[in-house]
Amino acid sequence: MQNERFLRALRREPVDCTPVWIMRQAGRYLPEYRATRARAGSFVKLCKTPELACEVTLQPIARFPLDAAILFSDILTIPDAMGLSLSVDEGVGPRLAHPLRARADIDKLGVPDAETDLRYVMDAVRLIRRELNGRVPLIGFAGSPWTLACYMIEGEGSASFARPKALAWDDPATMHRLLDVVARAVAAYLAAQAAAGAQALMIFDTWGGLLAPEMFREFSLRYLAQIAQILKSNHVARDVPLILFSKGANSHLEALADTGCAALGLDWTIALGDARTRVGDRVALQGNLDPSVLHATPDAIRGEVGKALASFGAHPGHVFNLGHGITPEVNPEHLGVLIDAVHALSTRT
Ligand code: CP3
Repeated sequence: MQNERFLRALRREPVDCTPVWIMRQAGRYLPEYRATRARAGSFVKLCKTPELACEVTLQPIARFPLDAAILFSDILTIPDAMGLSLSVDEGVGPRLAHPLRARADIDKLGVPDAETDLRYVMDAVRLIRRELNGRVPLIGFAGSPWTLACYMIEGEGSASFARPKALAWDDPATMHRLLDVVARAVAAYLAAQAAAGAQALMIFDTWGGLLAPEMFREFSLRYLAQIAQILKSNHVARDVPLILFSKGANSHLEALADTGCAALGLDWTIALGDARTRVGDRVALQGNLDPSVLHATPDAIRGEVGKALASFGAHPGHVFNLGHGITPEVNPEHLGVLIDAVHALSTRT
């Protein structure tokens, strides 16, 4: 591996400068991504064609001095493999054709076989590793059981995800049956990505923060901990650092750090220094600038990068990122300014 910064930071080892990658770094803000997506015909086709998924994974790596690549895919590949059928249309967002609306729908679900039912993902991981040729490490990922259950029940995005919450209140046993099967699917999927060559794993619990504290512990945290435990008992995945990102769940950082993960992703509603004080040296931290910073001027971007680095302080264990994904309207040159500023302002002599 030519660039070890990201993996060293996840292990909380000293680095020459702070590593940086960006959630959704392969995406619509890049004209080359939009061109490949048009060639693919659809987002799902892009995900399911390993050569094209590899091509878009490498696009931001070719353009910027990023310290990690992330597999181009989606969290909704698992529900798709479970038979719910994913599509993503321009201006509509992700949609599942067969959402779970009855108990019988949940009883029918099984754990997909990652190497056969999700073979296109494993083929993409193997191909990307070969094409990266050791330039930077590759991150694999999955959605959290709670976040996947939100989409599986609702069938599409939602501001409140009232349907999955109502199921958790009305029929917690059925909700737990769903979360259990999804958690086993996520663990198997992540272990297979590690076996295929993913060098770090990340779980996106995008909608964890919608839950009140007690519900968060029962319906999200419990299953994140279960997955972390399953991965610890897997002979390949046990050595692959796991990053947990529960967006909007800052009140649970200590509990998340106790799951046995290597790092926590943070959104921008907490100062890095405060988060570090709370979790101490148990885990590395990843984040956490407000993605809207990229709409500000280059000088303002550099200023915010400097403040975030200063807030974390001169400790090992920081991976720079935004607090959520980069948005389609961003000028790519502004992302270049951010990445250069992270490296320049964090250089240790
Ligand atoms: O970070 C990366 O570069 C890797 C690729 C990646 C995508 N989705 C590509 C994508 C990752 C890690 C995801 C995860 C994902 N997908 C999450 C968790 C992360 C988060 O943002 O909180 C969620 C909630 C989803 C579900 C999903 N898929 C959403 C909300 C969307 C966006 C819909 C829209 O129109 O804005 C998608 C589609 C999607 N996934 C796109 C990309 C680049 C845009 C689709 C397109 O090209 O039209």
